[in-house]
Amino acid sequence: MVNSVHEAGARPAQWSSRFAFIMAAVGSAVGLGNIWKFPYITGENGGGAFVLVYLACIAVIGLPLMMAEVMLGRRGGRSPIGTMERVAASEGRSQGWVGVGIMATLAAFLILSFYSVIAGWTMPYIVSAASGEFGGISADDTGALFEGLLASPGELLLWHSVFMGLTVLVSAGGVRHGLERAVTKLMPALFVLLLILVGYAMTTGHFGEAAAFLFRPDFSALTAEAVLVALGHAFFTLSLASGAMMAYGAYLKKEVSIARTSVVVAIMDTGVALLAGLAIFPVVFANGLEPGAGPGLIFVTLPVAFGQMPGGSFFATLFFVLLLFAAWSSSISMLESLVSYLNEKGVSRVKAAIGGGLVAWLVGITTVLSLNEWSGFTPLDMFARFEGKTLFDLYDYLTANIMMPLGALFTACFVGWKMKPAHSAAELGGWHRLWYPVIRYLSPIALLIVFYFNLK
Ligand code: PFF
Repeated sequence: MVNSVHEAGARPAQWSSRFAFIMAAVGSAVGLGNIWKFPYITGENGGGAFVLVYLACIAVIGLPLMMAEVMLGRRGGRSPIGTMERVAASEGRSQGWVGVGIMATLAAFLILSFYSVIAGWTMPYIVSAASGEFGGISADDTGALFEGLLASPGELLLWHSVFMGLTVLVSAGGVRHGLERAVTKLMPALFVLLLILVGYAMTTGHFGEAAAFLFRPDFSALTAEAVLVALGHAFFTLSLASGAMMAYGAYLKKEVSIARTSVVVAIMDTGVALLAGLAIFPVVFANGLEPGAGPGLIFVTLPVAFGQMPGGSFFATLFFVLLLFAAWSSSISMLESLVSYLNEKGVSRVKAAIGGGLVAWLVGITTVLSLNEWSGFTPLDMFARFEGKTLFDLYDYLTANIMMPLGALFTACFVGWKMKPAHSAAELGGWHRLWYPVIRYLSPIALLIVFYFNLK
């Protein structure tokens, strides 16, 4: 049979419906990347031109790659590592391609280690919001609140531990149980709340300025490095090159259209990021804050907005709760590559999730410390590219700007050049004619160009 590489009975349990897969994939894609990272890297990289490049990266490289990963996952029906083993073997290709699965699993793991620390930030914000602390708060005070949190390793460690515990809990129980039901309700709620925030942002008198900042491209502000950051973020935000989509694709039923489903996921993910930008930048400008303020951007600006809104405490609490859930459904998918692999090797899900979570938690402690005690520890200063970067900055840079683009390049080469087109066509149906030339030529060439200008 041309369209399947697994023996009868080897396929793992599946999503109950196309909708369930979409929700799980959206749950993985929508997270801190959209609401925390997208606005602050847009602010750091000058706005409009960066956003445009990011959107192009999503359309030309991200979306075709998502289709490739889900397709590989469904064909292999295993963990990302297991899937690459099987598909490479069934295509008569070298087992060296398994490296793609290994690097993806490692990237996801490294991301999880620091993602958990950032996700942990939402919890003290939930407490502050619920206790009404944001009422009428000034930007100076929210800045001080945020600085205070970062300066406290004990508090960061506590929330990092709670968040990692939550991730392990769901992962150990199997992602298809609780996750399906929870994301179906929470993702739409997050969307509505963002719309409310955008509605508020329109009343600040700075909405036009923010829209111009986000959508009027000024290419003189664009550097080669910014293009790499936009590209890396396209992968990060769509959970690509980290095994998540491959692992979830393995649970996808044969009848479901991979292409249509991927388009829906990419549109929802991009929509959330743009809404977050439209909610945040008007508040940034209205309060004379700095768009390039860095990772604290939403934690400093949004409480100011909530503090001035009617019903602000309620909305603020709800927002940070939903952000926590969005991060949770993403972190679960990060652990899935490793857990599903260990599970195939005979380790129980519970042991795999606890073991994986524990190591990621330990690595995460170095991120906690780089926000305070080790903030001056920038070990790769001898390379201009890594100068001034703390361990946390380095993990972020290494995963989003090096491992993910490289993993994407290898994946595109594998499906575009090493896999028989008839096999990918059997999974992708009519969309294959459009997808194939893109993944075979356009995506790898675009990736190589970005690499070239960054290494030059
Ligand atoms: N897509 C997630 C976000 O935007 O927050 C991050 C992510 C999830 C990256 C899962 C990688 C991954 F495997």
